[in-house]
Amino acid sequence: MEQPLMKGQKPMEFPHLTAAHKDLMVSLISALETRLDSHLLASSAVPPDVEFYQNDQGTSQGSLHIRRGLPSSHIDFVLASWLHLKVPTGSAMNITNLQAYLKSSTDVPHFQFELVQCSPTYFILFLDVTPRKDLVLYPNYLKTFYEEAQLETLRQRLEQVPETKPYLSSSLYFRGVVSPTGILVSIKCEEVGGTDRCEEIIREHVSPIAHDVMVIWLEKYFSGATVGVTERAELEKRDLLVKTRAIEMDLSSSLPLQFGQEVANRVLDVIKGVFGA
Ligand SMILES: *[C@@H]1O[C@H](CO)[C@@H](O)[C@H](O)[C@H]1NC(C)=O
Repeated sequence: MEQPLMKGQKPMEFPHLTAAHKDLMVSLISALETRLDSHLLASSAVPPDVEFYQNDQGTSQGSLHIRRGLPSSHIDFVLASWLHLKVPTGSAMNITNLQAYLKSSTDVPHFQFELVQCSPTYFILFLDVTPRKDLVLYPNYLKTFYEEAQLETLRQRLEQVPETKPYLSSSLYFRGVVSPTGILVSIKCEEVGGTDRCEEIIREHVSPIAHDVMVIWLEKYFSGATVGVTERAELEKRDLLVKTRAIEMDLSSSLPLQFGQEVANRVLDVIKGVFGA
């Protein structure tokens, strides 16, 4: 049974994912959606031809769902997406994303989740609440959102799984944006266990940890104080840089290559519009 995910939209389906990966996405999105429902606009920010898109051959496909926050809420937008990208070997990578960006009326970190299936036995996970302030200049920010938030315990719990290894992004910029407790790991089950073991790791470790991080983030979101007007300009400036860079790094070059310029422009225009970038 498909659960309704983003209200006011068609259910988000994940046609390319393994059962564990799909269950994780469905449960994570619906948990977020349920908690934030009264903070989000009911209507979709994405036109139908961007909710689902593909290249001419249908070998690369993507799906994008975005709901903006209500004007009265601190939510900028919640974005859920999947990409099925053909690679030269003939196979295709499966990438799923869930992000919640906040407005400058709050300084609570943004929520970021990405799970990339590079091969049936090789995954890369990024899970973080990304800081919006300098942690040296603002030690209280570090204390409130990281030191007192039990995120490090969760990071260490995943570290115990023998198949996980720290993953170093080739982008030094990206490494600088991730929080001190950010989870960026590869999960390889090539030698022992194969796909079954990968499924097990996603079900028994990645999924509960992702849910726990989200619960922590939601608590911070709901208890976060409203930021004074003077502080907002600074947050706004930083957020815009982060969003603009995210589009450049993740999408601006890969989307045209995978989907052709026309489809890519259609998708990028929607994303840029929502990101304000
Ligand atoms: C992505 O999904 C497709 C369809 O389920 C699957 O055949 C493929 O192996 C997956 N890609 C990787 C890299 O595992």
